[in-house]
Amino acid sequence: MLPGSPQIPDKVAGRYQPIRMVGRGAVADVWEARDEQPGGHGEVALKLIHTRLASDEDTRLRFEREVETLRKIRHPNVVALLDFGIRRGGMPFLALEFLRGRSLLHELAREKRLPLPRARAIAHQVLSGLTGAHAAGVIHRDLKPGNVVLVPDSRGGERAVLVDFGLVALAGAPGITQQGNVVGSPSYIAPERLRGEGFDERSDLYAVGVMLFEMITGQRPFGGASPDETIILTLTTHPPYPSEVAPDVGLSQELEDVIMRALDKSPQGRAASAATMATELAAAR
Ligand SMILES: Nc1ncnc2c1ncn2[C@@H]1O[C@H](COP(=O)(O)OP(=O)(O)O)[C@@H](O)[C@H]1O
Ligand SMILES: [Mg+2]
Repeated sequence: MLPGSPQIPDKVAGRYQPIRMVGRGAVADVWEARDEQPGGHGEVALKLIHTRLASDEDTRLRFEREVETLRKIRHPNVVALLDFGIRRGGMPFLALEFLRGRSLLHELAREKRLPLPRARAIAHQVLSGLTGAHAAGVIHRDLKPGNVVLVPDSRGGERAVLVDFGLVALAGAPGITQQGNVVGSPSYIAPERLRGEGFDERSDLYAVGVMLFEMITGQRPFGGASPDETIILTLTTHPPYPSEVAPDVGLSQELEDVIMRALDKSPQGRAASAATMATELAAAR
């Protein structure tokens, strides 16, 4: 149970019994829950909006968008939506595939940095999930370690799964309110988005570059003592080379090139697609 966990909520929709809180984001709490309906989904993750945001229009929009998005994507590296609906009192809920594991954020806090093969495998799976999302016309826009969950498998490996599709942009849909964009750490937001120039699939690749950098070196490319400082550094300075930040890792030139390209200030300087970046990552020594 996380520190400061609220009381266990009542059964949701007459069938999902929350058991313990497993995650707390800016917008929602996520609970491990059991579907008590015979022949139902079994173990699920219930995503419930923080009560204080219940009347917030922006939050509702986020939930609707998350539902609309996840219904379109079926991919092993993207969390599966099992059910959704409205709770008593009018608040929406999502029932998701339960991911028994830890977020990459949690893992980085614990391990500081990850061995190179593991970092590469996680990035590769994140890129696979993104390839699936982008093919469905979805740009994630909020890719960061807290939105990647690592699920250990029985063979000693792990599956990296993208969650939190509440801030996505959908091809052809009107933009979500600006308000939803500025929450959280700006470290993973691509320069073109910070400049307000719009974004495309390659803005998600920037976030993968930052996460790779962080997994390998234990640091983000642009530290910054405050969010504002991080934004200024992101907009104005060249990122350091990961091989200089962590000389002991023995990073190959090719792998460093993949990371530096992803961190390019301009989307044109990055790989053309998540699939291309995945291929380059796999090919790098
Ligand atoms: N399907 C899931 N199974 C298990 N844990 C999850 C699942 N989805 C999210 N989490 C955990 O809950 C946290 C918050 O979920 P998220 O969807 O990112 O909510 P928010 O929109 O509030 O950021 C994640 O960082 C992760 O640790
Ligand atoms: Mg999140």
